Amino acid sequence: MADEMERLCSGVDGVDELIEGGYPYPSVILVAGPAGTGKTTFTQQFLFAGAEMGEIGLYFTTLSEPPQWVMHYMSNFKHLNKSHIGKNVIFCDIGQMLRKASPEEILAFIDEEVARTMAQRVVIDPITVIKEFLGNDYRPFLFDLVNHLKNWRAVSILTGEVEPNQLYPSEVAYASDGVVLLTYEEVEGARRKYMEVLKMRGTNHRTGKQSFVITKEDGFVVLSGTF
Ligand SMILES: Nc1ncnc2c1ncn2[C@@H]1O[C@H](COP(=O)(O)OP(=O)(O)OP(=O)(O)O)[C@@H](O)[C@H]1O
Ligand SMILES: [Mg+2]
Repeated sequence: MADEMERLCSGVDGVDELIEGGYPYPSVILVAGPAGTGKTTFTQQFLFAGAEMGEIGLYFTTLSEPPQWVMHYMSNFKHLNKSHIGKNVIFCDIGQMLRKASPEEILAFIDEEVARTMAQRVVIDPITVIKEFLGNDYRPFLFDLVNHLKNWRAVSILTGEVEPNQLYPSEVAYASDGVVLLTYEEVEGARRKYMEVLKMRGTNHRTGKQSFVITKEDGFVVLSGTF
């Protein structure tokens, strides 16, 4: 059958219509962009949208923002229902363990948390810092991580920090089923934000840059029909 694939909604207005209704379930999606483009906001909306439907979301912070600060900033958004925190949206800090654990230990810990919470939605934000700790083990670690997450039958979003002169972190992009790119561009003297679906396995996705905004009322919203 052409499209019997199960999908999970993105939680971001304007995204589902670009990807045949949602992310393939299970899958691992990379959301990549430079600092401040909206990666964390994008993933929080994904988790809270699932929570609204009774799903469990698990959010791993690595080494960029401690969970209490993510919660603090997200509490500023009117559209996120904070009562899900600690119940259907579970925060978990793996920053400390990354400093000393082996790839196997990190993987085992993530596995245990996904199994314990029975999460259908998982976020690791950002994944790219793990490279600094694992060196040559990073690529095999990503491969194992993606396979484990898919075996747990979850949609997982890994966020990727993008360095200047880099389009996206390629190791994660190759391992992932989908790649969503967030960018800034200078248009007529103003800096605008764009998102683009570069890859979505099993999906006839729309291509091209879509303009988006982040507002206090509605959070991250993709504006339809804009380029
Ligand atoms: N309450 C808000 N109202 C309007 N815009 C906001 C609000 N909160 C955040 N933003 C916008 O979102 C941007 C940051 O979003 P977010 O933290 O999701 O980005 P990020 O890509 O995760 O950043 P980093 O790379 O630093 O982790 C801010 O720079 C700001 O432009
Ligand atoms: Mg962030």
